[in-house]
Amino acid sequence: MMHVTLRQLQVFEAVARLSSFSRAAEAMQVTQPTVSKQIRLLQDQVGLPLLEQVGKKVFLTEAGRELYATCAQWLDTWGRFEQTVANFKGLKQGRLKIAVVTTTKYFMPRILGPFCLEYPGIDIALEVVNRDRLLDRLARNQDDLYVMGLPPEDMETESEPFLENPLVVLAPAAHPMAGRAAIPFADVAQESFLVRERGSGTRMTMERVFAERGMPLRIKMELGSNEAIKQAVAGGLGLALLSLSTLQPDAGRKELAVLDVQGFPIRRDWYVVRPKGKQMSVAAATFLDFLRNHVQLLTPAP
Ligand code: PGA
Repeated sequence: MMHVTLRQLQVFEAVARLSSFSRAAEAMQVTQPTVSKQIRLLQDQVGLPLLEQVGKKVFLTEAGRELYATCAQWLDTWGRFEQTVANFKGLKQGRLKIAVVTTTKYFMPRILGPFCLEYPGIDIALEVVNRDRLLDRLARNQDDLYVMGLPPEDMETESEPFLENPLVVLAPAAHPMAGRAAIPFADVAQESFLVRERGSGTRMTMERVFAERGMPLRIKMELGSNEAIKQAVAGGLGLALLSLSTLQPDAGRKELAVLDVQGFPIRRDWYVVRPKGKQMSVAAATFLDFLRNHVQLLTPAP
């Protein structure tokens, strides 16, 4: 029976993940000799070399790779145990994993500062990905909470809307339609559009909007981020349908115009989503409550 401590495994996992003794020492806030010692003790117990050092870089041996995979599972299980204990104690502490779609990066980070100030015991990891990748994370149960434009239709979730998410038509400020009132959608549809990548929720909504109105969508260019689209619209490459959230606080506003198109803005909401029946940690429930009660933090002052 090997005598291995949780601490040794944590140190090994950090060295393996960061491929470096010094970065692992920094991440774990210990000295480098402490890291080396823990690894030596662990290696003695395993009886095989786990790491190979070439120059400054650290590589895993075959046994090291096996241990690394095992470590990830153990540490995850241990993390869950710690969370359960914190829940039993009713403590507002622990680790909270939130995954949000890219378009929410304009407002979700705003709530983190005040939240962390109020609950210093809760550590948050925020994952920012597009809709498809978020759905993938949701299916794998990788996070506590998810924020997206439209809850998945083929998965059982508990979803609640918490903020408006209007979809608007953007044009360069100098566009001839910029000052016009009540523009028919058919006129706008004649223009070329800049679209997000496939897998984006914005792209999905945009395709639906055109399909529902029976108009072909003329794609000029596909761009992988809202920011790139805003810049390209400002540069006169085409029009775009984006969430109004992307214009907040007001970056780029002077170069961009929100067109007054009939039927727009399309009213939608942002949802906070979790798998149905998943037991929420105290940390997740605390965040959800905070979000419900502090929505005003997400809308910038005019
Ligand atoms: P996106 O998602 O950032 O992937 O475009 C936006 C949405 O879900 O509406």
